[in-house]
Amino acid sequence: MRRYHLTTFGCQMNVYDSDRLEGLLAARGWLKAEATDQADFIFFNTCSIREKAAQRVISRLNEFKSLKKTKPHLVIGVGGCLAEQEGLNFLNKAPFLSLVAGPKRLTEIPELLERLDPTGPAVVLAGDGPAPLLAPTPKTQVLSAFVTIMEGCDNFCAYCVVPYLRGREKSRPLKEILTEVEGLLAQGAREITLLGQNVNSYAPNGEPQKGAEAPFTTLLKRLDSYSELWRLRFATSHPKDFPPDLIALFGTLRTLAPNLHLPLQSGSDAILQAMGRHYDWAQYLGLVKRLKEVNPALALNTDIIVGFPGETDDDLNQTLKALATVRYDSIFSFKYSDRPQTRALNLPHKVPEAVKAKRLTLVQTLQNGVTLEINRALIGQTVEVLVTGKGREPGQMSGRTGSNKIVNFLGSPDLYGQMVAVTITAAYKASLLGQINS
Ligand code: SAH
Ligand code: SF4
Ligand code: F3S
Repeated sequence: MRRYHLTTFGCQMNVYDSDRLEGLLAARGWLKAEATDQADFIFFNTCSIREKAAQRVISRLNEFKSLKKTKPHLVIGVGGCLAEQEGLNFLNKAPFLSLVAGPKRLTEIPELLERLDPTGPAVVLAGDGPAPLLAPTPKTQVLSAFVTIMEGCDNFCAYCVVPYLRGREKSRPLKEILTEVEGLLAQGAREITLLGQNVNSYAPNGEPQKGAEAPFTTLLKRLDSYSELWRLRFATSHPKDFPPDLIALFGTLRTLAPNLHLPLQSGSDAILQAMGRHYDWAQYLGLVKRLKEVNPALALNTDIIVGFPGETDDDLNQTLKALATVRYDSIFSFKYSDRPQTRALNLPHKVPEAVKAKRLTLVQTLQNGVTLEINRALIGQTVEVLVTGKGREPGQMSGRTGSNKIVNFLGSPDLYGQMVAVTITAAYKASLLGQINS
């Protein structure tokens, strides 16, 4: 029996891509290896969003140099965004690789493995491939499933490498998405997260638009009509593309979870402009207010970059003020990192590493306080939890609220896949503790 071991870095789209790859490998009889030393094929689906993400991949990969020497028939491959970025170069960094495949070429791998010579020259696949870009494939995880609806990005934010690695925006046909979702629901999926670098720009080619309604709005409404679907989420949406019909859905759709990831990046207008984000703080706040009017319980999350070139202490203060104003349920915050090909790479006034680190601490300290306050306010309240697996402590089960918070509670494994009412008894920064209502 042939066995594979797959490690995924990066964003949810990489998780989705890895899942499709696993489905295709399983269809060809591959089994999952528990550990890398039991695998015939070791694969890393990589990310290049920040320098650190890229370094992590290279250092993980180097652990397998000696294994390849003792097992020459082992196939070691890399895929995803860093593979797209490095292409042939990857072979200089890791000469023991047999396979380098960009994110649009992953689906070709299972077939390629049938004829690849692990002792021969490496195969490098980049750019667009002959395989259908986003063909639906079997899923390995279903209760809470990802579905890519579009891929690529046309925004070219000054700091971001994604448009160079995932290419231009390309949407899947509505019918293909519905077929995939129906398949997942039939297999037991109850929560679906729609994925895309900018889901609001969803625009399938040649499909008639319903009046002035955005195609993404149409898609969400269609999915809402599936009675087996309990929860619908999407990520990521750009604040500059948020039409009123989409805002309204947070008040009308049965399935749309009260949770939105709305990347702000910075609270300073000067920095937002330099980043090429195409909104200012006032516009962003206006959007937040309209969303909260429609659904006051909406939990917001965001991404923040500190230390973008030219960022001053005053700019940082604007970001801190923004966090205190919006009061996000949680944030992802990053130190700006130079990436190849991006506009920001050549900008003057780079912020020293120590200053970035200090600013990141300021941002995270403020946010940790807000997150804890928001979570503590839930103590005593009853929340609906979709049970997704075992909790950390023995006897515990774990799941997520509509607002996407993790809740642990004592309960039987039979509860897996059910929606249960849980009363919150304690709150921490990254999770809640509760008691299932009897
Ligand atoms: N398409 C999505 C997500 C892109 S990547 C969006 O527009 O929101 C996820 C996050 O990584 C970004 O929101 C940004 O905050 C961060 N990021 C991207 N490039 C970065 C860089 N060069 N340095 C630091 N953080 C970066
Ligand atoms: Fe990157 Fe901006 Fe596109 Fe998001 S919208 S993927 S941050 S270029
Ligand atoms: Fe990373 Fe590519 Fe996603 S760079 S964040 S894996 S789109």
